[in-house]
Amino acid sequence: MSAPLTSAEVIALTKDHNYGTWRKQKLWNPSHLVSADGCYFTDGNGKRFLDFASQLICMNLGHNNPAVIKAIQDQAATLAYAAPFYATTARAELSKLLLDVLPEGLTKFFFTTSGTDANEAAFKIARMYTGKTKIITRYRSYHGSTSTSIAATGDPRRWPIEPGGKGGGVIFSPEVNCYNCPIKHTYPGCGIACADYLEHMIANEGDVAAVIMEPVVGTNGVLVPPPEYFPKIRRICDDHGVLLIADEVMTGWGRTGKWFAVDHWGVKPDILTTAKGITSAYVPLGLCATTQKIADHFIDNYFAHGHTYEAHPMTLGPAVATIHEMQRLNLVERSAEMGAYLGEKLTALKAKHPSIGDVRGLGLFWAVELVKDQKKKNPFNSWQDKLDGKPMVTDQVAAKMAAKGVVVMSWMSHFVFAPPLIVDKAQIDEAVAAFDEALVLADDLLNTEADVLQTVP
Ligand SMILES: Cc1ncc(COP(=O)(O)O)c(C=O)c1O
Repeated sequence: MSAPLTSAEVIALTKDHNYGTWRKQKLWNPSHLVSADGCYFTDGNGKRFLDFASQLICMNLGHNNPAVIKAIQDQAATLAYAAPFYATTARAELSKLLLDVLPEGLTKFFFTTSGTDANEAAFKIARMYTGKTKIITRYRSYHGSTSTSIAATGDPRRWPIEPGGKGGGVIFSPEVNCYNCPIKHTYPGCGIACADYLEHMIANEGDVAAVIMEPVVGTNGVLVPPPEYFPKIRRICDDHGVLLIADEVMTGWGRTGKWFAVDHWGVKPDILTTAKGITSAYVPLGLCATTQKIADHFIDNYFAHGHTYEAHPMTLGPAVATIHEMQRLNLVERSAEMGAYLGEKLTALKAKHPSIGDVRGLGLFWAVELVKDQKKKNPFNSWQDKLDGKPMVTDQVAAKMAAKGVVVMSWMSHFVFAPPLIVDKAQIDEAVAAFDEALVLADDLLNTEADVLQTVP
C-alpha cells in the first residue's frame, strides 16, 4: 500500500489537475480540508476554523450529523440507484415530508442534483406551461452556472460567457435594494417603484413566461425586501398571467428563520427551486416544486425534461433524515432566535467602524457592507477588480479573520455571515469579535492618504 498523501501533495495534485471555480487559475491556493464537526472544520496543518459560511451557505445542520450520515449508509446498503421512472421508498417519504414543509400549494416535484439544475428545470417548465419565452430576472442575482441559469444571473459572473450577447429570452429588471436603490428612490416614499417598473416591463415586453427572484438576494448582498415587495410582485404576476419562480436555493431550509423565505410574507410562488440545505449539502440534491395547476398541464402534454440522476435514491434518503433532524432540533426557530442575536451584535459594530455602510439580514443570514464613505456609500473595490483577481479589501479582512480561526464569505464589498443553524451564542461572540478586530484594516484605509485609495476605484 502506498503512503498516505501529505497535505502539500494533496494541494499540489488538486491545483495541478482540477479547475478552481470562478477565478483565474493562478490565483487558486486551496487549503486542505481534512475533517469537520459541528460548526468547525480542520485543515491539513491541524488548524481549526469556525465555519461562519456553512461552507457555501449550505451546511445548515453543521458538519458530521450522525443521523444524516446513517441515512446515507442505510440508503447505500438498501438501494444505491434506481432509474428515474421507478417509484422508491425514499422518493415517496421525501415527497410526503415536502408537502408538510414547503409553502402551501406546491405539490409536484422534480428532483435534480444542484440548484443550477433546479432553475434550468423551472425555466423549461415555465416555458412549456405558458407557451411563452421570456424570463425576467434582476441584476443583483445569482441563479446558477449553466446555460440559461447563468444567462439569468445578474451579477458579473455572467459577463465572461456572453461575448455573443445576452442569453436569449432573458431580461433584467432593477433589484430591490433599499440601502442603495438602483433607481435612486427612497423607501417608503417610493411606493416600491422597482416593482412598478417590473410591471411596466412585463406590460411592454409581451411573451413573458416567468419572473425569477431570490426572496432575499443571497451572495449578492443579503438584500431583504420591504414587507410590501413580494405581495406586490405576486399581484403583478397574477394580473399579467406570469409565473413567479422563487429561487430558494440559498434562503430555504431555515436559513432566514422560516422554512422558506417567502413564508415571511405569506407569498405562494408558482414554482419554488431549492438545493443546498435540503440535505444540508451532505449529498447533492436540488428540487423544482410546482403547483398542482402546472402539474395538471402535463397530464396530457409531454413533460420534456429528465436526467439519469433525477430522484437519485442516495440523495433522497438523506434529505428525509435532514428534514427530521431540522424538526427534532427546532432549527427553524433557532435560526430566528440566534439570528436576532447575531444581527444585534453586527449592528452594534456600525457605530464603531466608519468602514461599515450597512448591516442587514434575516434569521442566520446577515451581510455587512463596507464603504469608503458612509454618506456616498461608495465601495472600496469594483466588480472588475474581482474579475481581474485584484486584492479586494473584503478578502483582506476575511483573511485576517481566517488567521484568527473564523471563516466568513467575502464578496465584492460585503461579507455574508451564515453559520450552521446549530450555532450557539458563544460561537457568535467569537466570530463577531474576530470581525471587529479585522475591520480595523478597512477603517485604517479610510485614514490613509488619498493616493492609496485611488488604486481602488
Ligand atoms: C440563489 C441561488 N440560486 C442558484 C444557485 C446555484 O446552485 P448550485 O451551486 O447548487 O448549482 C445558487 C448557488 O449558490 C444560489 O445561491
